Amino acid sequence: MCGIIAYLGPRQALEILLHGLQRMEYRGYDSAGIAVLSQLADAAGSGSEGAAAAASAAAPGTAHPVKVVKRAGKVARLAAAVEAAGIEGSLGIGHTRWSTHGPPNDSNSHPHCSAGCEVSVVHNGVLENYGSLKKMLQAKGYTFSSDTDTEVLAHLVFDTRKEHPALAPEEAVRKALTLVTGAFGVVFLFSDQPDLLVGARRGSPLILGVGEGEYLLASDASAIVEHTKHVVYLEEDTLVTVRRGGYSISHITETGADGKPLPHDPEVVELELSLEKIEKGGHPHFMIKEIMEQPEVLANAMRGRILDDGSIHLGGIKPLLPRIAKASRIIICACGTSLHAGMVAEYLIESMCRVPVEVEYASEFRYRTPIIKEDDVVIAISQSGETADTLAAVKLAKEAGALCLGFVNVVGSSIARQTDAGVYLHVGPEIGVASTKAFTGQVVVLSMFALALAAERGTLSKEELASRGLALRDSTKLIAGALANADKAYEMAKSFRFAHSFLYLGRGFNYPVALEGALKLKEISYIHAEGYAAAEMKHGPIALIDAFMPVVIMAPKTDPTYDKIKANMEEVAARDGCLIVVTDEGNDEFDSRAEHVLKVPESPEWIAPLVYSIPLQLLSYYIAAFRKCPIDQPRNLAKSVTVE
Ligand code: F6R
Repeated sequence: MCGIIAYLGPRQALEILLHGLQRMEYRGYDSAGIAVLSQLADAAGSGSEGAAAAASAAAPGTAHPVKVVKRAGKVARLAAAVEAAGIEGSLGIGHTRWSTHGPPNDSNSHPHCSAGCEVSVVHNGVLENYGSLKKMLQAKGYTFSSDTDTEVLAHLVFDTRKEHPALAPEEAVRKALTLVTGAFGVVFLFSDQPDLLVGARRGSPLILGVGEGEYLLASDASAIVEHTKHVVYLEEDTLVTVRRGGYSISHITETGADGKPLPHDPEVVELELSLEKIEKGGHPHFMIKEIMEQPEVLANAMRGRILDDGSIHLGGIKPLLPRIAKASRIIICACGTSLHAGMVAEYLIESMCRVPVEVEYASEFRYRTPIIKEDDVVIAISQSGETADTLAAVKLAKEAGALCLGFVNVVGSSIARQTDAGVYLHVGPEIGVASTKAFTGQVVVLSMFALALAAERGTLSKEELASRGLALRDSTKLIAGALANADKAYEMAKSFRFAHSFLYLGRGFNYPVALEGALKLKEISYIHAEGYAAAEMKHGPIALIDAFMPVVIMAPKTDPTYDKIKANMEEVAARDGCLIVVTDEGNDEFDSRAEHVLKVPESPEWIAPLVYSIPLQLLSYYIAAFRKCPIDQPRNLAKSVTVE
């Protein structure tokens, strides 16, 4: 949700910024922009479109020209625009936007600047009190050229420097940020400071890349991995001052006895990410690459965690298992697809461990004054590890004294760091906005968790635990088998590309799969779809059924409610509904009964969500492809939802 990048070093900044923005485009793709400071020597004779004039007399020091180019639309549009702008300089900031305040157009795009571009800023997050700050600044004579909340930051920092000329620019930023409420990951560039970037974060991610004589700031490691693998994950409420000779990190608000901001000792860590993992590897879209690589990445998620005797070893939570085993309740908080994985976990944990589980939308949980007890365990599930509502649920649970676990994909992300312990998914970066391998990764990790907890609580026999552990490890073969039937989903997609609405039905473990199948279809193909617990259909949605309504029903033979699912199918057939049945290979029962049958390898009931998700992912993907939708970047969506 908005991507930020900044560069300071010996090389030309522009290309680095544009590449970084392209890599982060999945975070937001409404509009994009850059600001590059040209050293006075570089700048001679390079006037062009969007060039900001030298700073006004209010800012101290010698002003250098700052060139700002911003465009509504994809980064490619921005790249075309900057080509003509003759931009040179080794210090710059860039942004790709997912709009919160103000529609996507050129003027609402970031960077935002003070009137003479003395201060330029890129921002990810939402400023809650921007309205009152804007009024205060307007009363002082500042004029605004956008509808965004972010623009107040540029004027506010400019004004702070004007009011307090003795303050170093980073201290002016600190002072200004103390007036702000809300979430931000920000980077400031100053026209009179050719050797300075100031970054800060509160509630939105920001990382510092430490290269050879150069530094990068970004909201996402994918933007900088080709330049350096050494990074500092900036902690909540910290500010970083970056100069060519080094950087320093301090708390924004915490001060020591002398009233000075407390320095923060940063740890430089090595990124595990590789360039190869964030490229499409010959596929037309990230989404299909991520669907197809599931057998391999899920094997990675289980490597070293399921041993040859079927036992489970989750290092991150092992020491806490005795405490988790005593929990009187497990509360799972998540959003979107991650919530659906949490719903699968409810079935897994309750059936295997006999502990009550509640699954909640993090956005509801955080505001409904929930009862959280100290012996509750709260699990946050998140691909990005940055989802604002899930992060807030974690904070709430911790304040209430509950043990908080994170099941997260992005290493070093906020949720990973703010939970007491957790398990990484290890499915590699997920770039396609529609979540696929992260969902199955979450289900795999939650299945391992359920088995480890069942072992600790003694709710399954040793033999059962061992055979389930090995069955889970072997589930990658079943998933590969389901992927091998991709042709059938492709053929079906051709027939359904003009459908207006779909219904997805499942029971038991496949009820959340039905919800997930419907979500996948609507987000990438823009076809309306609803997921339902199959038996609920007759309580309302049955009224929608006619010959034009495709109804996808999951019917695994291993499901104890198999006969009831068949009855639900008959209810659809009796109303001329168009039946699409997903069932096990070797089950021919529906071949003549249903319009279409998709087959997957037979799996135990509790593993079925992993296998049955695959044809639904493929069906959505191919339908969206036939409809020529922008699959990896569906309209209005963003990969990492850092605003509530
Ligand atoms: C749908 C999708 C979203 C996310 C949701 C939570 O395909 O990706 O519904 O699942 O925004 O995101 P994370 O898992 O990053 O917390």
